[in-house]
Amino acid sequence: MKKIVISTGGGDAPGLNAVIYAVVKSATLRGWEVYGSRSGYKGLLDLDEMVRLTPEIVEDITPTGGTILGCTNKGNPFAMPVENLAGETLIRDVSERILKNFNRMGFACHIAVGGDGSLEIAHRFAKLGMPVVGVPKTIDNDLEATNLTFGFDTAVSTATEAIDKLHSTAKSHDRVMVVEVMGREAGWIALNSGISGGADVILIPEIVFDIDKVCAKIGDNELHGKDYAIVVVAEGAQEKECDVFCREGEVGMQEVVLGGVGEWVAQRIRDKTKKDTRSLVLGHLQRGGTPTTFDRLLALRFGAAAVRLVESETFDHMVALATPAMIAVPLAEAIKSRKKVNMDNDKVLTAREIGICFGD
Ligand code: F6P
Repeated sequence: MKKIVISTGGGDAPGLNAVIYAVVKSATLRGWEVYGSRSGYKGLLDLDEMVRLTPEIVEDITPTGGTILGCTNKGNPFAMPVENLAGETLIRDVSERILKNFNRMGFACHIAVGGDGSLEIAHRFAKLGMPVVGVPKTIDNDLEATNLTFGFDTAVSTATEAIDKLHSTAKSHDRVMVVEVMGREAGWIALNSGISGGADVILIPEIVFDIDKVCAKIGDNELHGKDYAIVVVAEGAQEKECDVFCREGEVGMQEVVLGGVGEWVAQRIRDKTKKDTRSLVLGHLQRGGTPTTFDRLLALRFGAAAVRLVESETFDHMVALATPAMIAVPLAEAIKSRKKVNMDNDKVLTAREIGICFGD
């Protein structure tokens, strides 16, 4: 009888609970025991934070958002922020303790569900001898090795619904409405929701924008009798000769926190066009709520496929969608490159052909 452990690392994404459900159900069917490590590696670090997962415990979780195990983006075991007796925060490598606990529990494998950062950590553990299977997770959908990640469809649906609703105010008040969506390095959420929601301008990290081009599009709208505009901006979008907008990074965080470009763009449009311009940030609304049917199904498939990889001992690999199949990709390869929006992507071509401006 095998004993396996599952953890959810990094930020939450709709569909995490569906992965846990599928792992628990399909592992139990094989007669295995499943444990959950709370808050990423916390359960493996401190066994009091380890929970036994049974089919009864996970019975109703598939449609729920978040993760029953909790997650953290401050939990890198190779650089963990630890408070000493004097109250100072020090960075410590606690990987050895995690490996010891893993072996003490007699686990046959760790299923690590996470984005690029968490999968990189999982790969480091694999190199230290821990049998690991990865499951890709990110609402940004920016992992090259898989056609899609769960959470993305839900995030795009939420963003599209928000953009749809903004049309009322924009049109009634002749305003420019700027909406900031997530997307650190890749503009997939902005692109998909912007096209579907009827945006006039979409600004993404892959295309450095010129604010004069953005304002020219707003002016062009007016020439054609449309006195309002919707601008969708990915948080990682960058104006020509400017930096990406970020708030301070925190000690131990895997990545700095982005945000602020939406209001910056709104202010620039206000100054240059004198039009009534407002901004809003969708933020974590995009990560919340019940996963769409598409995301649930993808997450369930990822979970079941991960258990198949454990069974065949295909360790140091990640499950990936190569439509319509589930495949195994070596983790070393999976963490190598980001999936960015290419300029010859059909969605970009479509957007341009229906008159959407990218600020270039
Ligand atoms: O990677 C997913 C993501 O949603 C990014 O788009 C965003 O920059 C980041 O997570 C925000 O994470 P948090 O608010 O948890 O720091």
